[in-house]
Amino acid sequence: MKAVVVENYDAIDGISIRQIDTPGISKGEVRVKVGAAAIGFVDGLKVQGLYQTKDPLPFVPGTEFAGVVDAVAGDVSAFKPGMPVVGMTRSGALAEYITVPSAALKNLPPQVPFETAASFQANYLTGLYALDARASLLSGEILLVLGAAGGVGIAAVQIGKLMGARVIAAASTAEKRDFALRYGADQTIDYTRADWRDTLKELTGGHGPDVIFDPVGGEVSLQAFRSIAWRGRHLVVGFASGTIPALAFNLPLLKGGALLGVDLAQIQRREPGTHTRLMAQLFDWLASGQLQPVVGKVVPFENFREAFKTMQSRSALGKMVVTFG
Ligand SMILES: NC(=O)c1ccc[n+]([C@@H]2O[C@H](COP(=O)([O-])OP(=O)(O)OC[C@H]3O[C@@H](n4cnc5c(N)ncnc54)[C@H](OP(=O)(O)O)[C@@H]3O)[C@@H](O)[C@H]2O)c1
Repeated sequence: MKAVVVENYDAIDGISIRQIDTPGISKGEVRVKVGAAAIGFVDGLKVQGLYQTKDPLPFVPGTEFAGVVDAVAGDVSAFKPGMPVVGMTRSGALAEYITVPSAALKNLPPQVPFETAASFQANYLTGLYALDARASLLSGEILLVLGAAGGVGIAAVQIGKLMGARVIAAASTAEKRDFALRYGADQTIDYTRADWRDTLKELTGGHGPDVIFDPVGGEVSLQAFRSIAWRGRHLVVGFASGTIPALAFNLPLLKGGALLGVDLAQIQRREPGTHTRLMAQLFDWLASGQLQPVVGKVVPFENFREAFKTMQSRSALGKMVVTFG
């Protein structure tokens, strides 16, 4: 089969498609013919060896995928060849076939295309875990989403609306702000402007955001926290800007505010009950059509580098998806 293979940690131009063995299946496993795989910011860091954990070389990148069951181990009864499925794993999705434990898969509602399904789990679970399990966002509260047109940002915009919040989307370009409005944001802010906090103050009538969803980091995080409402909750999701901010401890004291960490990788292991509840909620929303996950740019497998480059050049709208012909 063909797969993107990282032989050395490298910039994306140094990574190629190779012919490798199609993976076999052992006890408890399912092999999926991949229809679409999504690429997130973390995948871009992993291929370069810049992520906090390193995949041993060589490896096939890609954690999220959707496709059709190709083969199942004899002890697996939940899946049969031909079933459409969606899955999430540590690596291996940028390949024509992937083998995973059956627990890594879910049945795909029939009306959901592979591109949509592949873009779904990581960002929307992160968004829902952050806003529900961590921030306890209430209907009517004001949610400020930083980096709102990015993959995880746009998920937070949509989930914030589903939870009844008033959503203010912050993004760097007019195109990105329009994108956030199209997916439900109530208002937008250009947070590259020096006076953006004044605009935020005006938009919130002096109240400030009750909850801040922050996948960006850097100076903008510090500025945002200075504007937070009394008893506000600032969700630490990521550092796409490349800088981890250092917040002076007097600010949470003065604001009665909280910094809350969010780590998708630990939810299932540390909070299995919460994970089950949130996944059920997400798949209910998906099956009923209440939530229509945003598919950003879709590129054919052969052009996988374009997906990485779009994200790395800060020009991505939503999630990048690679499809297999
Ligand atoms: N904690 C978790 O479990 C979890 C889960 C998913 C993602 N994340 C993290 O969240 C962050 C965003 O991920 P994503 O997949 O949403 O990425 P993305 O689609 O590339 O979006 C990132 C956004 O950050 C903003 N940004 C500001 N400075 C940037 C810079 N120098 N380079 C690139 N983007 C910059 C951009 O918006 P503007 O141009 O509008 O500023 C961009 O839209 C990453 O750090 C990722 O690791 C964490």
